[in-house]
Amino acid sequence: MSAKKSAAAQRIVELRRAIDEANHRYYVLSRPTISDAEWDALLRELERLESEHPELVTADSPTQRVGAPVSGLKKVVRDVPMLSLENAFDEDEIRAWDEQLRNYLGNAATGIVYSAEPKFDGVSLEVTYEDGALTRASTRGDGTTGEDVTHNAKTIRALPLKLQGEAIPRLLEVRGEAIIAKREFRQLNDELVEAGEEPFANPRNLTSGTLKQLDPAQAKRRPMRMFCYGLGRTEGFEPTSQREVLDRLVEFGLPTPRDMTTFGDLDAMLAAYRDLHRRRNELPFEIDGMVIKVDSFSLRERLGTRSRSPRWALACKFPAQQATTTVEDILIQVGRTGTLTPVAALAPCQVGGVTVSRATLHNADQIAKLDVRVGDTVFIERAGDVIPRVVSVVKEKRPAGTRAFVMPDVCPTCKTAVVKAEDEVAVRCPNPCCPDRVLRQVELFVSRGGANIDGLGPKLVEQLVQRGLVTDLADLYRLNVEDVLDLERMGEKSAAKLIAGIAAAREVQLPRFLFGLGIVHVGETVAQALAERFESLAALRSATAEELMAEKGIGEEVARSVASWFAEPKNQDLLDRMEALGVRTSYEARRVARTSGPFVNKTVLFTGTLASQTRPEAEEKVKERGGRILKAVSKNLDLLIAGDEAGSKLKKAQELGLRVVDEAEFLQMLKESDA
Ligand code: IVH
Repeated sequence: MSAKKSAAAQRIVELRRAIDEANHRYYVLSRPTISDAEWDALLRELERLESEHPELVTADSPTQRVGAPVSGLKKVVRDVPMLSLENAFDEDEIRAWDEQLRNYLGNAATGIVYSAEPKFDGVSLEVTYEDGALTRASTRGDGTTGEDVTHNAKTIRALPLKLQGEAIPRLLEVRGEAIIAKREFRQLNDELVEAGEEPFANPRNLTSGTLKQLDPAQAKRRPMRMFCYGLGRTEGFEPTSQREVLDRLVEFGLPTPRDMTTFGDLDAMLAAYRDLHRRRNELPFEIDGMVIKVDSFSLRERLGTRSRSPRWALACKFPAQQATTTVEDILIQVGRTGTLTPVAALAPCQVGGVTVSRATLHNADQIAKLDVRVGDTVFIERAGDVIPRVVSVVKEKRPAGTRAFVMPDVCPTCKTAVVKAEDEVAVRCPNPCCPDRVLRQVELFVSRGGANIDGLGPKLVEQLVQRGLVTDLADLYRLNVEDVLDLERMGEKSAAKLIAGIAAAREVQLPRFLFGLGIVHVGETVAQALAERFESLAALRSATAEELMAEKGIGEEVARSVASWFAEPKNQDLLDRMEALGVRTSYEARRVARTSGPFVNKTVLFTGTLASQTRPEAEEKVKERGGRILKAVSKNLDLLIAGDEAGSKLKKAQELGLRVVDEAEFLQMLKESDA
């Protein structure tokens, strides 16, 4: 082997290990050490090396997660059917089930232990590992016959392509739930709405649709996760309890429900059920109950199964997050790209412990389909932590004299005639200067993922736009202290601080700048990929759709959207004006993920004012060095960095006994990290 090739081979091994490790930390341990951008950089480097040395590609390389599209989904017939669960809807039903089970078991029930896990609201999936390698994945289907979705399951970064650890079984069919987390669901739906397409009703539908995609590149754009909670056939692995199953699955590097607990007594279990129900909305993904299972496999065998569900498990469901209320008005919201979204203003009601007074109606087609009218009584549902949606109308309760809703033919904000593209369901306001559009655009640009302008929150942006001080992104950089002095709640000091914050944001990192432009389909990951490939705004501005598409991870739809945004004269003009006002983008390749240093794997929070740099700059430095920024003080915080005039956060951190450092020490830590 040539020296060059052997260096490449060594680096390839390192990169694969780093990527697998990062996936494991993120999805299985929930302790991410590197940012998404850094992960992408590692994968790109690996892709580059493997394309230079195709003979070094192996089936378990992370580059092999996205394979070729398939022409259809094949059937998979299984020997051990995937069963369903019996449901209980309240505590009485759970008690009754326990009693019945104890009667059935008689003496054998003495000392019975139950395990309890969240009931994930996703799609059940079986994944087969042969000699440790992921060889197949299939959906449940009717239990016996499912569909082969291996190509899509491989895009699930939580699932190792190769099992880790000792004593790897010859055969392991592991079962669990594929899900899409609330955050990703929300992002994807926002993108779909902005692109004028139909959003998904809930994360489960999105997951199901994703698993059925024929092209895994599409599935990769909708990041799924998985939680493994059971087994199909196994060879060389004979566990005797649920606890043992989950412990061993963790050793194999598989993601399992972290909230699993065992109970000897029913009252404690019911308390856990109530507690999980209370925490339901805080979890990053949807759950619809708690599953209790007899822990011991020998007891399970005694209990056996009915035709569709085992006697040894019970789904303790939570009440649906649904309610009925009345529609007081139908309002229209104008989004960043001009999309008009109808929203129902509701008589406030409680849904799953939260007061709801708005529900989205998506678009005119949806209103027509449901025939929602002002005055109607409607069923609403909360899903994926998004704005609730109207599910159906209770027609029997419709008052007399209501009228069908008609979408306005002018924008409610700027009165410009709306337009509708033939292939889209959405109606748009075409006026780029529409105050609502400008407002949403500026909000995105100054947000944390964008230019991250400190002190410029939504309230201030609203005032700036309403008063006509800001009509596009370039105007932001023209503001001076006098302009903002008479905004509400603005003193001389805060005005100066705001202007200084904007001035500091003249230098924006390219990926953040691109994300902040709000180009349809350009989320943070795509922005990072574009920055990495083109390295400068100038290069991107002159790229054709074909050149954009040549980049892995950028599909046709995205490439067209980006190219047409940059080709638009008014956008070119905007970029020219921003440049003339001194706005500069910078890009530094972040190739190597940090694996050591004082910030790696640490959660960090800044408070007070730093003298040497702005807070966004300092936060960026911590992130680049492997740290994660938290927004509030909690016991999960590893390090509070306190600048001048630190207040309540410092006090709280001290009370909790957390580690606090001052600016000098922070600068020292940066040096240490870079040493
Ligand atoms: S055990 C034989 N555990 O709920 C028992 N199922 O309503 C098989 N589900 O089809 C299932 N979370 O898709 C089990 N922790 C969990 C679960 C879970 C979600 C799903 C699963 C099943 C459905 C039944």
